[in-house]
Amino acid sequence: MSQRNSLRNMPDENGHYGIFGGRFVAETLMPLILELESAYEAAKKDEGFWKELDGWFKDYVGRPSPLYFAERLTEHFGGAKIYFKREELNHTGSHKINNTVAQVLLAKRMGKTRIIAETGAGQHGVATATVASRLGLPCIVYMGAKDIERQQPNVFRMRLLGAEVRPVTSGSHTLKDAMNEALRDWVSNVHDTFYVIGSVAGPHPYPAMVRDFQSVIGRETKQQILEKEGRLPDVLIAAVGGGSNAMGLFHPFLDDDVRLIAVEAAGDGIETGRHAAAMAAGTPGVLHGSRSYLLQDEDGQVVEPHSISAGLDYPGVGPEHSWLKEQGRLEIAPATDAETLEAFQLCGRIEGILPALECAHALAHIAKIAPTMDKDQVIVLNLSGRGDKDIFTVAEHLGVKL
Ligand SMILES: Cc1ncc(COP(=O)(O)O)c(C=O)c1O
Repeated sequence: MSQRNSLRNMPDENGHYGIFGGRFVAETLMPLILELESAYEAAKKDEGFWKELDGWFKDYVGRPSPLYFAERLTEHFGGAKIYFKREELNHTGSHKINNTVAQVLLAKRMGKTRIIAETGAGQHGVATATVASRLGLPCIVYMGAKDIERQQPNVFRMRLLGAEVRPVTSGSHTLKDAMNEALRDWVSNVHDTFYVIGSVAGPHPYPAMVRDFQSVIGRETKQQILEKEGRLPDVLIAAVGGGSNAMGLFHPFLDDDVRLIAVEAAGDGIETGRHAAAMAAGTPGVLHGSRSYLLQDEDGQVVEPHSISAGLDYPGVGPEHSWLKEQGRLEIAPATDAETLEAFQLCGRIEGILPALECAHALAHIAKIAPTMDKDQVIVLNLSGRGDKDIFTVAEHLGVKL
């Protein structure tokens, strides 16, 4: 496929993916966003930056992460071969570290001395606190009060790493509100602060930049599956909160003949209205600096999302996902809380791996499609994080007191 017709060439120079993306920010933030954009453009062309990043990936993060054949799950479902891309084996336990290492290195290049971040499940907060600590930079993490309650182990980890966790009590006390607070902080501390956004969301250049940093997942997967199977997979599947682990896996495959399935949190069921399925049940609107699919009412007010998983409990999705959905390139699938809990337990029981509740959503969808596929077909699941952080939530739902 020629460069021109590649699906991989988005966004345009203004950060648009068709009608999606862009930068809808306060005037005071505009110079910062432009400064970030030119710093990223310069870093992108600098071999030294990528070399330094590769060094961190290898020796600090533990890359490449393995591509693992889940033999017992494959037998269990009795259809397609199932592989896990083991992002949960990364340092700090999720894919979030890929992006935070890269962004904090960029902050250092830009001479920024203060790091802020928002977090939902806490994995992005832990990853940011980790890298900030390693580089000796103070770090403040905004986190919804509800998420602080359900992700206690990660809150404690962030504090042990020297970060200040600031509870956010506006709105639904979750990720959306934490992101609002972080943006507010950034506006008032423009000269010394770097805002490390945790997903492919936010104003341009964040969605493209985070995608580029996370694309290491898909590049490795491509090489590894060619080594193991001698061909590309039939299906790539990942859960979508903001969309960074999914985009990281999908992007290197956008021009290939591979099905891409984005699994959204259907909560109690999409028909109940208590879910976080922005692409399946949302409409285009503006949130956190870009236009994308979003859960909103007729007056454009954000509808509070719901998911058992803090990392998916977000009313929007990254703009590139919205564009790929409109192009018909992305398949969107739902997984409910109940289906996810079942998949979480199944994986622990027969594969010896407790997946994060986020990626257990994608596994719940595999349970639906793998048995319908042929035995010589191949599915790759992005196992984006470890389930350790979720054992309290799971225990509560199973009626177990820890
Ligand atoms: C392990 C894990 N997977 C997935 C997500 C969802 O984010 P994204 O869609 O950006 O990958 C999170 C967010 O906290 C997470 O911690």
